[in-house]
Amino acid sequence: MVKRKTLRFGIIGLGLMGKEFASSVARWCHLNTSAPIPVLTAVCDTNPAALEWFKENVPSIKVAVSDHKELLKSSEVDAVYCAIPHSLHENMYIDILKAGKHLLGEKPFGIDKKANDAIMNVINNNPNLIVRCSSEFPYFPACKRLIEWIKAGSYGRLIEVRSGFHHSSDMDQTKPINWKRISSINGEYGCMGDLGMHTQHVPFRMGWKPISVYADLQKLVKTRPDGKGNTVPCDTWDNALLICKAIDPRNKEEFSIHFETRRMAPGATNTWYLEVYGTEGSARFTTADPKAFYVLETKGKEQGWTRFDTGSQSFVPSVTGGIFEFGFSDALQQMIAAFCEEFAEGGSKHQFGNVTPEETAASHALLTAALLSNKEKREIKLS
Ligand SMILES: NC(=O)c1ccc[n+]([C@@H]2O[C@H](COP(=O)([O-])OP(=O)(O)OC[C@H]3O[C@@H](n4cnc5c(N)ncnc54)[C@H](O)[C@@H]3O)[C@@H](O)[C@H]2O)c1
Repeated sequence: MVKRKTLRFGIIGLGLMGKEFASSVARWCHLNTSAPIPVLTAVCDTNPAALEWFKENVPSIKVAVSDHKELLKSSEVDAVYCAIPHSLHENMYIDILKAGKHLLGEKPFGIDKKANDAIMNVINNNPNLIVRCSSEFPYFPACKRLIEWIKAGSYGRLIEVRSGFHHSSDMDQTKPINWKRISSINGEYGCMGDLGMHTQHVPFRMGWKPISVYADLQKLVKTRPDGKGNTVPCDTWDNALLICKAIDPRNKEEFSIHFETRRMAPGATNTWYLEVYGTEGSARFTTADPKAFYVLETKGKEQGWTRFDTGSQSFVPSVTGGIFEFGFSDALQQMIAAFCEEFAEGGSKHQFGNVTPEETAASHALLTAALLSNKEKREIKLS
């Protein structure tokens, strides 16, 4: 029997996403892949209750600490998944890289462009480390179909691309504030920093990087309860629409691309979507209809959408029956699988790898220009 290689992970930040990561790793036999098996050996959080949850639920843990520097000293850790508030990304990511650990970081990969520049500098000085940023929605099987359809050039000439992420929990104005609604912790980008990377991963990978942006940002809710009987300022952008131009590398033609990130989107729980409209064909996917890949062929006057049911299989094959359903936790596991594939013999053969550091830098260039556009009420050119 050939013994599979393992990749020993530490997690820093054991909140919502830290737990999702642990759950994905715990059911790794779900995937049919020869890439190294992730094993969770170390965890770190400043909140003792979060550490307790991991100690109770994850038997492979050898190190459980409140100071990330202790985790980084451990010889039991090869790679770190880091899911902490945005204001901490810069120092923490730099510490992880300087400790010689591979990094799967969370978006926005630095609270602002200055922080991202500092992280990029350390990445460039450590070319031996694998560094990627989280973004899981492209791994839905129906989005895989959409990516294949785009790569085949099935759209002809692009008319418009719409990529968006809609939330609605903040529609409840009695919801107590958390760090995601406080600019000093979440960042000046507001909803764009929180949700933007999800909307940019596929377009950027297709070479659709904006050459200009006009931003329309909304601040709808100015105060929120703090959960302790007080009312406090809520100073982040709620909603953002970035109206951009990009050039399609396939034919060098210009087209419109809209990135929409909304925390105040009535009715949308956690809806990610990508729509591509072209002269010869159009296609779309939304997590609100997660099995469906919609496609339309433009032949003459009349056009109609065709809906395909896509089943369970994503980029990395799994043990689930092909006709069964796929969900958020599957997408997250596929994202981690794409990261583990980077450590496969001969390098990754994955068809749609994680967000690269260069793509995070492109994201920060776009979002920084969007803030300027909104402030000066004009279109900003991007190089
Ligand atoms: N990929 C996705 O779909 C997705 C979804 C939600 C959030 N996120 C991203 O994940 C990151 C974390 O978000 P979350 O929703 O998990 O937040 P969270 O508030 O649920 O968890 C953050 C955790 O970090 C811990 N923490 C804070 N300071 C720390 C420190 N100095 N050392 C160690 N731990 C510390 C907190 O105690 C908390 O447990 C953010 O970058 C966010 O943008 C990604």
